[in-house]
Amino acid sequence: MCGIVGFTGSRSAAPVLLKGLGQLEYRGYDSAGIAVLDGGSIRVEKVSGRIAKLCEKTRDGAAVPGVIGIGHTRWATHGAPTDVNAHPHLSNDGRFAIVHNGIIENYLALRDELIADGYVFESETDTETVVHLLEHYYDGDIKAAVMKTAARLEGSYALGILCTDAPDTLYVVREASPLILGIGVGENYFASDVTALVSHTKNVIYLEDGEIARLTPASITVCDCTGREIQKPISRVTWNVEAAEKGGYEHFMLKEIMEQPAAVKAALAPRFRDGRIRLDDLELTAEELRQVNKIIITACGSAYYAGCSGRYAIEKLCRIPVQVELASELRYSDPMVDEHTLVLVISQSGETADTIAALKECRSRGAKILGIVNVVGSTIAKLADYTLYTWAGPEIAVATTKGYTTQLAVLYLFAVCVAEKLGRIGAEQYRNAVRALQSLPKLLQQTIDMNYQLPSVASRYASRSLFFIGRNTDYAVALEGALKMKEISYLHAESYAAGELKHGTIALIDENQPVIAVCCNEALAEKTLSNIVEVKARGAKVLAVAFRGNKGIVSQADDVVFIPRIDSIFSAALAVVPLQLLAYYAAKEKGCDIDKPKNLAKSVTVE
Ligand code: M6R
Repeated sequence: MCGIVGFTGSRSAAPVLLKGLGQLEYRGYDSAGIAVLDGGSIRVEKVSGRIAKLCEKTRDGAAVPGVIGIGHTRWATHGAPTDVNAHPHLSNDGRFAIVHNGIIENYLALRDELIADGYVFESETDTETVVHLLEHYYDGDIKAAVMKTAARLEGSYALGILCTDAPDTLYVVREASPLILGIGVGENYFASDVTALVSHTKNVIYLEDGEIARLTPASITVCDCTGREIQKPISRVTWNVEAAEKGGYEHFMLKEIMEQPAAVKAALAPRFRDGRIRLDDLELTAEELRQVNKIIITACGSAYYAGCSGRYAIEKLCRIPVQVELASELRYSDPMVDEHTLVLVISQSGETADTIAALKECRSRGAKILGIVNVVGSTIAKLADYTLYTWAGPEIAVATTKGYTTQLAVLYLFAVCVAEKLGRIGAEQYRNAVRALQSLPKLLQQTIDMNYQLPSVASRYASRSLFFIGRNTDYAVALEGALKMKEISYLHAESYAAGELKHGTIALIDENQPVIAVCCNEALAEKTLSNIVEVKARGAKVLAVAFRGNKGIVSQADDVVFIPRIDSIFSAALAVVPLQLLAYYAAKEKGCDIDKPKNLAKSVTVE
């Protein structure tokens, strides 16, 4: 949930660290700090609040001399977001400073042990135990102290370590938290995410669990947890720094909404060849697919809602039963999973702790795992048996948009491809589905172009609370629409399967309760229309999302936003766009911090 960076070179470290932290701020932003080594001692500057405050305090780093340092932007888990709980943390003797992303689960026991040994704690964090352990185990050999410390830790961690006895050297170690090393010319870096590295270098090393690295300006060496040196492959980042910048948009979220046609094209286009879908990374033969008697989709948040949409497409086309499970529930549910279950694990970041745990749980019961992941080289991508990347490019806004639509695109490809392999759809249905999917990027662009009026609609509907309703695929979109609204505008929003309203919640409907009705599933449009009539009869103001040309809805709803027509199985990818924009403009009207909503972080690497 936090972001960490490190730099060693011959130029001033603090500005490099602050810039890197700015690029990682989406990972957590309740406090920030840097530690820079200069003249034999470590200077720590930290503040509660945003990185801008830290930049102000350090005059953009100019006030903190030194050519080696570490930095941290925090999403608080242990201890309030105060100055004292902010990282970096120092050892009592001032020799070590560390930054940490993750959670040390056994920190209470370690803390008691260290206090008994005379160590003094300043903060309430789990992290502080680590820096005192380093001091405790240090006998002149930093690597040995890091290894002994790591051996005592339970939980997840990516640690960046600075020591006064090695004035040009950084140490890092990882376990279940992302950590990437950047290879520069005469300088080297580490970060939680490549977005903080691409402005310096495109050559990176992805560290694996249990690995320890030593970085000097001229070299990087990596060893395993026994201390044995290992050779790591160097990967090349394929996207440019501009992809991780706002490019003239006021917010990353708006930029990422607008990028959806291109992102979905990147997810789809390489997978069509000669009019057919080729999922080269899914090496399951028709015979192996025939052994699958159940598909489980597991994920969290929006990725879970993408799974809810995907379920309709897979069941309808492949006729395989699909269960969609929240990863945080599945991991503890003693799931009925065996070698005949195919588990689709969906995650933008590829680092979500609950999703990783659910994956491992299913794997241990014999299931094959297909990861649908955006971040290349992430933990889920590595753990899965097969990975289909969504190729959305870097997504910075905490609220996912292009991450979600590209997940849908990949799920649709999967559904059509598997249905055809199993002979569950005929040649004509296959051709039509392929054509529909090929048109998705263009239709997404049209959807964006058709919804220019949304800022004014949003200002009329963004009241204290909203209801989102729909049936089947439209219900899945309603779930995502309500989450977007809650997440960035802080307005209360409920999503309901339209047919469920009269089983209780319709009691909440009155003239103060706006309803957003998603009405893009043609087979069920009439049914949703009757639900619209029912809520209107109770005074609700209704905004409908419908296919262009749906005349019936114009006479019933107060406002309608139209999307282009597409086979209803795939309509979620278009219908969600007006809901993303609605949430965006509602949040903007309320003056919310759209890219960094309160209490949230982009990548939820803790349980
Ligand atoms: O990185 P992941 O896709 O695994 O993240 C899952 C959720 O945390 C994520 O979708 C979250 O719900 C978003 N902030 C919603 O916009």
